[in-house]
Amino acid sequence: MDFSQLTDFSPSSLDAAFAAVEAEARAQLAAPDFDAEAFRLAWLGRKQGRLKAISDAWLKSAPADAKRLIGQRFNALKEAIEAAVETAAARPKAAVGTTIDITLPGIAQRIGAEHALVRTMQEIVTVFERMGYSVGLGPEVETDFYNFEALNFPPNHPARDTQDTLVIANQENKLARERLLMRTHTSPVQIRSMIQQDPPLRLVIPGKVHRNDAADATHSPVFHQVEGLCVDVNITFSDLKGTLDHAMKAFFGSGVKTRFFPSFFPFTEPSADVQISCIFCNGKGCRKCKHSGWIELLGCGMVDPAVFEAVDKKRAELGREPAYNTRRISGFAFGMGVDRIAMMKYGISDIGLLYSGDVRFLEQFA
Ligand code: PHE
Repeated sequence: MDFSQLTDFSPSSLDAAFAAVEAEARAQLAAPDFDAEAFRLAWLGRKQGRLKAISDAWLKSAPADAKRLIGQRFNALKEAIEAAVETAAARPKAAVGTTIDITLPGIAQRIGAEHALVRTMQEIVTVFERMGYSVGLGPEVETDFYNFEALNFPPNHPARDTQDTLVIANQENKLARERLLMRTHTSPVQIRSMIQQDPPLRLVIPGKVHRNDAADATHSPVFHQVEGLCVDVNITFSDLKGTLDHAMKAFFGSGVKTRFFPSFFPFTEPSADVQISCIFCNGKGCRKCKHSGWIELLGCGMVDPAVFEAVDKKRAELGREPAYNTRRISGFAFGMGVDRIAMMKYGISDIGLLYSGDVRFLEQFA
């Protein structure tokens, strides 16, 4: 539009004239090759700008009584243009016209990895799944009943001291057995499973557990276990030995030997600790096995009849038939620490690395 003199000063024709100018500005703002600085100069430039031209052609030469009407419209237009220039300066430059250099290296996506603990836990679980075991899961916040009482740790029994944990505050008004705590082992899931299911039962229970242990290179207040439970008629200690011996060979290699020592757990009788021949020196003796040729790895035993009795008592409370008659039914249980096994397998010397979240450590497992 060139700005020849206006001849009609009626408000409607002034509106039309200014609307045409504004439409021109809008079209430029929306153009794909819009350039904010060029736009600013073209409209607001002191000498060559369009607003200056409008002012000269329409405002200055208008008859005195039309100046007010034109001036109002001119000011509104000027404000709109100034505002558009301000927003345009703030918005990022359009990338139109720039080409993509396909020879530049791309942006690498970092690849995630299964955590060493999760992987180890899954590998252990798989060994038992192949023997027909299914997987049981349960809550990390447990009641005293499931974590201790049903597992034959009576209230105030010294065996509880070996599994001190964190308890939830302000529960003094609850019965002791109903108080909440962080589970110290995954054994409470054995109780929950037996309450829910009738024998025969073959279960592995992987999961996170908590104990009030100070952190050092081999202890962490949070760690992981895989426990197992097998209940049926005629289950004997030799079934336990055969199962664990096979599992250790399947996991560590067929050359591994096992041996069993008497031990104590409140929920198994008899109880045993299991050692495997040292996987680093094949039993010859080295620093890792303190020159004994053996590494202790598992706790296990025959399920104590008191545990089956606690299960049937709870089933009765819940209106379920008893199913764990100790004259007919027997079983074995075992438990192992996943963290220690992962540390052995991957040569990790500090358990804290497993919980540090340090990517330099974690990416080694990618
Ligand atoms: N629950 C035991 C622990 O955490 C491990 C275990 C499980 C021992 C089953 C024997 C039988 O120490």
